Amino acid sequence: MRRVLVTGGAGFVGSSLVHRLVSETDASVDVLDKLTYAASPESLDDLPPDRVRLVVGDVADAALVDSLVADSDAVVHVAAESHNDNSLSDPTPFVQTNLVGTFLLLEAVRRYDVRFHQVSTDEVYGDLALEDPKRFTEDTPFRPSSPYSATKAGADHLVSAWVRSFGVRATISHCSNNYGPWQHVEKFIPRQITEILEGRPARIYGSGEHVRDWIHADDHSSAVLAILERGRVGETYLVGADGEHSNLEVARTILRLMGRDEDQLVHVEDRAGHDRRYAIESGLLRSELGWQPRLKDFEAGLVETIAWYSAHRDWWASDKAATEAAYAATGQ
Ligand code: NAD
Ligand code: TYD
Repeated sequence: MRRVLVTGGAGFVGSSLVHRLVSETDASVDVLDKLTYAASPESLDDLPPDRVRLVVGDVADAALVDSLVADSDAVVHVAAESHNDNSLSDPTPFVQTNLVGTFLLLEAVRRYDVRFHQVSTDEVYGDLALEDPKRFTEDTPFRPSSPYSATKAGADHLVSAWVRSFGVRATISHCSNNYGPWQHVEKFIPRQITEILEGRPARIYGSGEHVRDWIHADDHSSAVLAILERGRVGETYLVGADGEHSNLEVARTILRLMGRDEDQLVHVEDRAGHDRRYAIESGLLRSELGWQPRLKDFEAGLVETIAWYSAHRDWWASDKAATEAAYAATGQ
């Protein structure tokens, strides 16, 4: 791969992938990113300018997408509107970015016969019951619950149709919940860490028994690179690190690691349609491509993440104020 186009490369997961492409391959990287509220272009500041170029623009801009794809050997499509709560208050940008943007990228890779990887989520599978021992597999049918997961599922269906109908050389990955540095403070783990740093209690939606399957963003990006380099065209891979914990467990762990009483949390308004449990069976990725998560110790990862947010107040302080003002309006 001479030149790789990474959409959404200034975001949380995308920036981890761009760092990995620079350190582990010889490719030059074009980042196409609209720099929405969720972007952190400063996460790319330490990368060599002769290897990484940031193009500020929209994946739903057909002419721009065409010109960038024409120049690329591979496209990794990471850009998305990514937050469930926002999709409940206004689904419009989710349809535009996640569906229309993916469609335009697929048309461009079809025109130029460029390898394509679609970064998706396990949320397309809907949820599992708390007491159900099953996990999601590549064969689990799509049953998305929220506007966010429905637009991601729709985009994934477009990818599969472009593979089958037009022979596009594409793969898809579905990953579980990510954590680590540079994640926007609207998301669960950074929100709790920054609430506690600001002297407030952790905020738990509803009962807090909901389970998420946590993986470090750097393990997600290593899986995406393995699939891009060695994955079978037309295949879907699930990405997870066996990290199931209830939201209450995670909040209590963060409180303890930050030296607070584990009961310093409040239960707030639940999310509409709140998925109960996600759990990933990532056997195919491990057996076929030899991938393994490297950052398997979740508590150690939380310690490192807490330290990062403690040291980067300047980065999150203004986003934090805007985010909490929006949450206050919904009672969350
Ligand atoms: P994020 O919200 O942190 O970053 C998204 C990035 O995409 C931002 O830089 C934003 O500016 C950019 N973007 C948004 N709309 C755009 C548009 N129209 N054109 C160009 N750029 C645009 O999201 P994230 O958490 O990094 O998630 C990235 C991808 O990974 C998403 O596709 C998401 O579905 C998937 N994913 C995320 C997780 C997770 O837990 N974060 C888990 C599984 C899958
Ligand atoms: P989130 O980080 O939004 O990811 P997702 O919706 O993709 O799983 O939320 C993770 C879990 O944490 C989810 O069950 C909702 C819950 N949650 C809270 O309990 N409190 C919060 O302040 C937030 C933002 C989320």
